[in-house]
This record gives sequence, structure tokens and C-alpha cells, in this order.
Amino acid sequence: THYWAVVPAAGVGKRMQADRPKQYLLLAGKPVLEQTLIRLLSANIFSQIAVAITPGDPYWPELAIVNDTRIITAPGGTERADSVLSGLNALADKASDQDWVFVHDAARPCLTAMDIYLLRDELANEPVGGILALPSHDTLKQVDARSIMQTIDRNTIWRALTPQMFRYGLLKQALTETAGNPAITDEASALELLGYTPKIVAGRPDNIKITRPEDLALAAFFLEQQAL
Ligand code: C5P
Repeated sequence: THYWAVVPAAGVGKRMQADRPKQYLLLAGKPVLEQTLIRLLSANIFSQIAVAITPGDPYWPELAIVNDTRIITAPGGTERADSVLSGLNALADKASDQDWVFVHDAARPCLTAMDIYLLRDELANEPVGGILALPSHDTLKQVDARSIMQTIDRNTIWRALTPQMFRYGLLKQALTETAGNPAITDEASALELLGYTPKIVAGRPDNIKITRPEDLALAAFFLEQQAL
């Protein structure tokens, strides 16, 4: 079995209010995307990593890692799911349907090799695949406008992280069939819509997605902790 990775990195990051997309902001001395790719490469299991970038992206060629032969690029799309499908298509002449593909957000630079091995090993015998996720510690409210309708049993709610690992052929089929559907905000949701039941593997709380300005400082702290 081969392992492949797709990294959607074509977002504009408008919640970040920065002068460039968040994947190119500096984190511990390197652009966020470079930190993310260094961690994926260090796991040493991927035959190739397809990075979906905005066509004409001026920041990508500046990364120290662009000449690594394990990395290829694909044109990003309008939505995250379009970018992921583009990345999958870029691997089409090498990947076979039963291979595993890991999809990991460019904006999650604190993933560890441990995360990757955990997902790979826990789901090794699964026909479909699954995702890293975290249980919810806060009490959860179902809300209509500003009024609480009910409290949701938090034991049944998990927060989806990446990497998400699926069989290459199934994931491509699911993202192709659900293209343009705004309800598809991760890979698992595309498979759910086709009637599959992806698995959950408990991830780490430090695998945060850089979304708001303060997340960069938090990510820098986590990277420092991991290095100890
Ligand atoms: O915006 P959000 O944080 O949900 O984006 C998650 C990931 O998807 C980011 O790494 C972002 O660069 C990527 N993305 C993409 N193409 C888009 C939108 C987002 O590759 N059209």
C-alpha cells in the first residue's frame, strides 16, 4: 500500500486580517505552510505530497522546500473541497484506488509524526478510512438566533481535525460526486453524504488550525513544547 498526501493551501485567510494568506505568515522563523510540509515529510511515509496552491501564488516559489522531489503542486479551487480534488487529480497517474491518502490543512502546522502514525495504524484494516478528532469539553448549546433551544449531549460530539485518511479511489469519487455542495467542509462529510461511516481517532489538542491572529502565538508555543 502506498500513502499519499494532499495539502489544501489555496485559501485567502480573510479572518486573519494579514497582508498575505495565513499559510505564508511566519511561525517560528518559517512560513506556516513550510512548517506543515516539514512535519509531513518527517513522517517519511508519503510517496508524494500534492499541495494545492492559488494559480500565480507569488509566495509559494519563495518557500525553501519547493524543490523537494516528494512535493508537487496542483491548482487550487474556489472552495477547500475543490482544492483537495485538484490535489487528488494531480496524483491520478501514480495512485491506485486502494492506496491511502492523507488530507491535511496547510493551516495546521503543529501536527506530529505521532498523529500520522496513529491514524495509519488505527485505521489500517478499515475499508473507508477516518479522521483525527477531539472530544468537546465545553457544554454545547443548540441555538436559534440568540436563544438556547437545548443542550446537546457532548459525549456524542467531536471536533473534526486533519489529517483525514481515506482510500484514494473512494475519496476522489466522493469529492467528485459532491462537488459544489456547500455542506462539504471536510473530506469525511463527502463520504458521509455517499452513505459511508468514517471512523474517529482521538487526536491531540495542540493540532490547532491557524484561523485568527492570536493562533500564531499559540502555535509557536506548541511547536516549542513539542521540541522539548
Ligand atoms: O479557511 P479554512 O481555515 O477552513 O481553510 C482550511 C484549509 O483549506 C487552509 O489550509 C486553506 O489554505 C485551504 N483552502 C484551499 N482552497 C480554498 C479554501 C481553503 O486550499 N479555496
